[in-house]
Amino acid sequence: MTGSGTAAVESMTAALIPANGRLLNLEDGVYGDRIAQICSQYGIAHERAIFPWMHPLDLDAIAARLDAAQEGAQFTHMAAVHHETTTGRLNDLRPLGKLCRERGLRLIVDAVSSFGAEPIDFADDSLCAVAATANKCLHAVPGASFVIVRRAALSQAASRTYYLDLGRLARMQDQPEQVRAGLATKAEGFVIYAGQGDLAQTLFRISTMGHVTPADLSRLLKCFAQHV
Ligand SMILES: Cc1ncc(COP(=O)(O)O)c(C=O)c1O
Repeated sequence: MTGSGTAAVESMTAALIPANGRLLNLEDGVYGDRIAQICSQYGIAHERAIFPWMHPLDLDAIAARLDAAQEGAQFTHMAAVHHETTTGRLNDLRPLGKLCRERGLRLIVDAVSSFGAEPIDFADDSLCAVAATANKCLHAVPGASFVIVRRAALSQAASRTYYLDLGRLARMQDQPEQVRAGLATKAEGFVIYAGQGDLAQTLFRISTMGHVTPADLSRLLKCFAQHV
């Protein structure tokens, strides 16, 4: 999405805690605090677990907090900042994932200042989404950020925002996919390269450049004979 890291974190938080969800937000610096502010502004049910900035997250306290949640106010999600840039602390996602897995919670992660530099185990299926940005560890342009999200989580996503709505983005990705898949059944292994501008409706292009052999062209011409 076009926006800095905060746009991705906001988009992830606003989309992935469903209307009937409840988030435990782990905070050990200003970026954890920012997620709590986002929750307040969107009216997302959440509790703040605030830890001293200069110490590692207290896993026993987190477990106790999860287990003490009253019937009807149980947590469905946990949020953590992977690399809390405030202090430079790398919060270990593995034990957080374990706490979530054991209790059926989903973990959302602000990885704005770690993605591309610190390993993230996407095989951990409690990990529901990771928000990150192009211009930090990926050394790319400023103003472009992204959320990596499990498709299953999108199917339950809330639609609280317009521009940053992950569900909307998913629809925009699904529709071209439908067209691509439909064309692929006719493509017989060729990439159909549409015409440009107004010509897109009426013609397509054939490339004879690149690693294209006379045998490829014969096969192409045979396909024309069958389909055109
Ligand atoms: C961990 C973390 N989260 C979120 C942000 C916010 O990103 P941005 O300033 O690109 O909006 C930062 C920025 O440094 C960050 O380090």
